[in-house]
Amino acid sequence: MTTRGRFITLEGIEGAGKSTQVAVVADWLQDRGIPFLLTREPGGSPLAERIRALLLDPASAGMASDTELLLMFAARAEHLARRIRPALEAGTWVVCDRFTDATYAYQGGGRGVDMARIGLLEDFVQGPLRPDLTLLFDLPVELGLARAGRRSEPDRFESETGSFFARVRAAYLERARLYPARIRLVDAAAGPQDVAARVRELLGAFCEPTAATVGSA
Ligand code: TMP
Repeated sequence: MTTRGRFITLEGIEGAGKSTQVAVVADWLQDRGIPFLLTREPGGSPLAERIRALLLDPASAGMASDTELLLMFAARAEHLARRIRPALEAGTWVVCDRFTDATYAYQGGGRGVDMARIGLLEDFVQGPLRPDLTLLFDLPVELGLARAGRRSEPDRFESETGSFFARVRAAYLERARLYPARIRLVDAAAGPQDVAARVRELLGAFCEPTAATVGSA
């Protein structure tokens, strides 16, 4: 029987440097010969990428929060069915740039959607599947926005205000408080080299067999 692959997600507000660190995770796995799928949300499969385009398009301004929430989970259902579950079942690790913690942070914290409703959809779409490890890149909103501001034309989320991102950040930190074993904080205000070192340290700790596993072997 093939051992199920592990599921790693990366999270954070705009400008947290996630994209740079996704490459660090990929290099780390490659160096160890671990097969992995690198993907992202919303998106990650052809249909889910089309839903992503609808979600991010500035022309979708004023979309109802429930529509946004349901589109996020519609994209996720497709991504899970086409890419994530088949990979994990084949023993391939999955590294995903954002997943459901982003829904709690952006739709829950940012838009004010009831967290319990997000939980219902999470159970409906994912069943018991949750990431095994989540790296949360945390930094002050002003710093994140200053970094992100250097990039091109903002999408529908990037056009949001500082107070929106302050709520998103607070919701992420609350998730980290609720799930300390899974969600590991990374100080993303540090320079990229220091952040990468912390990422490698957390990956190393995640892969180390625990005393309990060794004891029961
Ligand atoms: P990205 O810029 O990291 O690719 O993500 C696209 C945007 O989608 C980002 O602004 C966060 C937002 N998002 C949500 O609002 N809810 C979600 O569940 C996910 C996965 C992303």
